[in-house]
Amino acid sequence: MNLSHHPDNIAPHGGTLINRICSPEQKAEFLDKADHLPRIQLDERALSDLEMIAIGGFSPLTGFMPKADYEPVVNEMHLANGLPWAIPVTLSVTEEEAAPLKEGMLVRLDNPQGQFVGVLHLTEKYPYDKLHEALHVYRTNEEKHPGVKVVYNQGNINLAGDVWLLQRNPHPYFPTYQIDPAESRALFRDKGWKTIVGFQTRNPIHRAHEYIQKCALETVDGLFLHPLVGATKEDDIPADVRMRCYEILLEHYFPLDRVILAINPAAMRYAGPREAIFHALVRKNYGCTHFIVGRDHAGVGDYYGTYDAQYIFDEFAPGELGIEPMKFEHAFYCKRTGQMATTKTSPSGPEDRVHLSGTKVREMLRRGELPPPEFSRPEVAAELARAMRIPVEV
Ligand code: ADX
Repeated sequence: MNLSHHPDNIAPHGGTLINRICSPEQKAEFLDKADHLPRIQLDERALSDLEMIAIGGFSPLTGFMPKADYEPVVNEMHLANGLPWAIPVTLSVTEEEAAPLKEGMLVRLDNPQGQFVGVLHLTEKYPYDKLHEALHVYRTNEEKHPGVKVVYNQGNINLAGDVWLLQRNPHPYFPTYQIDPAESRALFRDKGWKTIVGFQTRNPIHRAHEYIQKCALETVDGLFLHPLVGATKEDDIPADVRMRCYEILLEHYFPLDRVILAINPAAMRYAGPREAIFHALVRKNYGCTHFIVGRDHAGVGDYYGTYDAQYIFDEFAPGELGIEPMKFEHAFYCKRTGQMATTKTSPSGPEDRVHLSGTKVREMLRRGELPPPEFSRPEVAAELARAMRIPVEV
């Protein structure tokens, strides 16, 4: 499928949609060699990174980053070739694991269950500075930050080189929502959509989400609802519950011909502003022209200012990212007007505003309480109650 020359499509980041899924011949060749190759076992995040590289979600990356990309990405949010990129995509292993590996080798990549899933053409092994990465990418050195914790706990050596995914398997839980970048681009084209807004989420859908999605949808052709289903921190709501909430909300409250629901298989980093850039570039690869950035996007705890993830877009030259952020202020339910609003549109004072965050709702659910109708649509609240086994009449 040649998508890059179609006038309707936004170009992938770097101009070419990367495909690193083995052809049948390559796969047969790798299967032949598999038993003789050195092995590295991927954790869940590295596995999802491999997948994202292979399907083109991380275009223009063709593998795990060499030092020449890693350093300018950490320090200046650009790859060696000058393209914007905000998050390191690295394969970190221990010194013992790295020792027998020689540059130039093919390395067999196994999933966490020990199955052969991909191949790395190792071109470089390099040590890196974890504290420096934490301070630049996550803006903190605190180990209790879930993204920093991953960096501190991973191995000291990065393995770099191009990768191949042996085969693209259907997602075990959400096969119908597995829509890879080449497919989403084709879908948008078939629907005649020229402007598409992407939406990232890792929380159960609430009315502020719905409000900003619909505000965005008023000005573009289509909405690409793209919940992240890769690794998240332990206290986040599981992806299957979140996906059911999305299905329910779409069925009752959205015009189905203007929305596509698809999964984003990537892992969450919780890097706030840096991750907002990363999330936007990934959605550009899926074919989106616009990307929603609301309050504390991809944030955790109090590490980032409410709108830091919006300000960071100003650090890039106009047009450099190739996707437009759609920025939204903190949305709430306004009792005076009886509708969702932000301070831009609501005449009320704080006493008339129902503010809730994903974090607060997770806490309520853990206490066995249901979010109120000003916060969650009742059908969604009922599904959350069912999933969290809350014995409440709804
Ligand atoms: S995130 O980690 O994926 O960003 P979440 O699922 O809570 O978390 O948010 C998805 C998107 O909705 C982000 O762009 C976030 O900024 C935005 N958002 C969440 N809640 C609100 C709110 N009350 N007002 C405005 N934007 C919000």
